[in-house]
Amino acid sequence: MIDNIHVDYDGLIPNNVGLNGDDRVKKALETWHPGYIDWWMDMGPEGFQNALVYLRTAVSVDTGGWARFDYVRMPEYKWGILLAPKVEGRTVPFGASKGEAAWQEVPGEHRAMLRRLIVIQGDTEPASVEQQRHLGKTAPSLYDMRNLFQVNVEEGRHLWAMVYLLHKYFGKDGREEAEELLRRRAGDKDTPRMLGAFNEETPDWLSFFLFTFFTDRDGKMQLEALAQSGFDPLSRTCRFMLTEEAHHMFVGETGVGRIVQRTCEAMATAGIDDPSDVERVRGLGVIDLPTIQKKANLHFSLTLDLFGSEVSTNAANAFHAGIKGRYREDKLDDDHTLEHATYPVLRFIDGKITSADVPALSGLNMRLRDDYVTDCNRGVERWNRVIAKSGIDFKVRLPSVAFNRQIGEFKGLHIDVEGRMLSPEEWASRRDDMLPSADDRAFIEHLMTRAVTEPAKFAGWIAPPRVGIDNRPGDFEYVKVAG
Ligand SMILES: [Fe+2]
Ligand SMILES: [Fe+2]
Repeated sequence: MIDNIHVDYDGLIPNNVGLNGDDRVKKALETWHPGYIDWWMDMGPEGFQNALVYLRTAVSVDTGGWARFDYVRMPEYKWGILLAPKVEGRTVPFGASKGEAAWQEVPGEHRAMLRRLIVIQGDTEPASVEQQRHLGKTAPSLYDMRNLFQVNVEEGRHLWAMVYLLHKYFGKDGREEAEELLRRRAGDKDTPRMLGAFNEETPDWLSFFLFTFFTDRDGKMQLEALAQSGFDPLSRTCRFMLTEEAHHMFVGETGVGRIVQRTCEAMATAGIDDPSDVERVRGLGVIDLPTIQKKANLHFSLTLDLFGSEVSTNAANAFHAGIKGRYREDKLDDDHTLEHATYPVLRFIDGKITSADVPALSGLNMRLRDDYVTDCNRGVERWNRVIAKSGIDFKVRLPSVAFNRQIGEFKGLHIDVEGRMLSPEEWASRRDDMLPSADDRAFIEHLMTRAVTEPAKFAGWIAPPRVGIDNRPGDFEYVKVAG
């Protein structure tokens, strides 16, 4: 009998999936494990593999208390396989098979599609660890350093989650895919990660916070859609990953919020009320608001590409098959098959961004992206409240969804942040007002040259958090750097 709530901690791989009674999968994962550790040592947080980090580890899937906090060396982190508890009597919630008992095995006709979705999700997890591996060396505090490493080990665990599904349900090709997940590298020109945003650099801490705000939030949307899946093991895996994911977005939202706060405080103290007086603001050793806006424009547009084309037969097929649902499908009140419904999609017609109704099944990527933009705007509003409170006349705004796109309807077009079409010459002359310039990057780089490693101390460009992690006091030593 498998105990779904409590985790078996005795073996090499903590789990609540009954690995001890499943020799084939246990052996496959134990064979995969050394390669994973090699990857972590090679591509994980550089310079801190020996440090003791105050990390949370998932020890249960009980929503009341699933994590334990303790000092851990990251290579010794217990990366477990945890599925949310099974819901008795669960049925396929949408698509052509709606109402059938949820599948406990992979339906043969959907095997290729399921494998592809699991591999794509799995590929993003180690990618972000690779992208963030140098950031420990410039952490603005031990608190932030710990949060970075927490995100990193959990992305590692999410890779385990997907690899488990591949080993358990996809036989030989699942094993091969699991190997490939360790072979690809973010930004590598020969063996890149599968999706564009996961091959970009995360060169500095503002990028890190914006990445966790925008790109981890895409992760949340994808996991929410997969958590609805009729394939029950995928649904249960994703539901548990979402509990961890919430912290990643917290790190991003509060990180940007604290940078904004510090900038506003420094401006107030210096008597600067014009946010466009970039040189003077930078002279205070803080990041000017227009640069934060430009970086947000970049991360938002890169992340929108992850949703794929606005009109997509793949998305339609995955929904029809009962494999990938909509955001919070179970809370939506309609027929959940969408055979006759339509959805308004933004398209580029005759030089204009135009809304056009398409069959709702084809518009599912757009729909998920719309839900995403709504979710992003809530966080942006919280940043704007910080700015408004300080009396500075500035608002962070998400750019047009057509801005700076590489995938879908607006791919390769010169469209500005307001959604207006530009000539190539206009784009060239305005580009650096809308996206980070070489100068902006150089400024941020010079601001972040070393890690702040004294407890309770913070770099001058970011405000301290309001509360500590796990209710620890302000001077808590979140990372013992020397190990
Ligand atoms: Fe993740
Ligand atoms: Fe994440």
